[in-house]
Amino acid sequence: MPKVKNKCVLVGYNSVDDAGVYKLSKDLALVQTVDFFPPVVDDPYDFGSIAAANALSDIYAMGGKPISALNIVGYPKKLLPLSYLEEILKGGVDKCKEAGVPIIGGHTLKTQEPIYGLAANGIIHPKKIVTNAGAKPGDFLILTKPLGIGIITTAIKQNKAPRRMVKEAVKIMSELNKISSEVMLEFEVKACTDITGYGFLGHLCEMTKASGVGAKVYLSKIPVLDYAWKLVEQNIVPGGTIYNRDFIEGKVDWGKDICEEAKLVLCDAQTSGGLLISISKNKAEKLLVSLLRRGIVNSAIVGEVIRDKKCRIKVAW
Ligand code: CO
Ligand code: CO
Ligand code: CO
Repeated sequence: MPKVKNKCVLVGYNSVDDAGVYKLSKDLALVQTVDFFPPVVDDPYDFGSIAAANALSDIYAMGGKPISALNIVGYPKKLLPLSYLEEILKGGVDKCKEAGVPIIGGHTLKTQEPIYGLAANGIIHPKKIVTNAGAKPGDFLILTKPLGIGIITTAIKQNKAPRRMVKEAVKIMSELNKISSEVMLEFEVKACTDITGYGFLGHLCEMTKASGVGAKVYLSKIPVLDYAWKLVEQNIVPGGTIYNRDFIEGKVDWGKDICEEAKLVLCDAQTSGGLLISISKNKAEKLLVSLLRRGIVNSAIVGEVIRDKKCRIKVAW
């Protein structure tokens, strides 16, 4: 993409961030994002609600407030009953309702497999944008959802996921990042992004590069779904995760005791993952306690930002 030069574009393609931000006036900016994908779970209602939570997440990650959304739908009408589509859309509508976001339009086309997602709009004060570029050495890093979702959804696709595992994964994926974002805004955080397709290390890498810093993370402190460990040992790993793992190799210094399974988990491609927040050390504990109190129970301090011009990530036990 060519570079954008426009005074109103506050966040655009030039920085790899969660959403675009366009200044409307001196105290109001528009946050825009779009996200859609084929089903990650069998239940159409759950799929719709996960896709909607995932699409809104990029607005929450910028510190914005989502205000409206448009449906993006692809559907193979000849292969699947329309009742299935109805359920997908109902899942999306209900999730948006929970977020206080009306769906005000959309577009549908015929596709080989179902696709669903949203183009979402939010608002933000131009001076209060939380980009991924503000992390400072000495900050602590907080993650708000556990990793391993990509590995579990792959097990679901291979019919190797017991019902309890599916239930837990659906609960995590369809949880909005709304409360996490609201709590984050009560503190002066330095940077934030949400963990999605590039995995924890991929998105952390975007943050360190954008911020011109390095990071050190501790495997033992990172929340991971128990099921994911068992699956990765059986080699149930999505293609995207393996791709992320290869991509990150030259950018990470692995501790001696970090096994290959752990490397894959840290690179696991997430759907509707949590927020990764960088906040100064002396405020981190307070933010963590607030997150836990508001029900974001998997939140944890997972590492710290360090000085490093090469923007490398150290992974220690
Ligand atoms: Co994002
Ligand atoms: Co996105
Ligand atoms: Co039209």
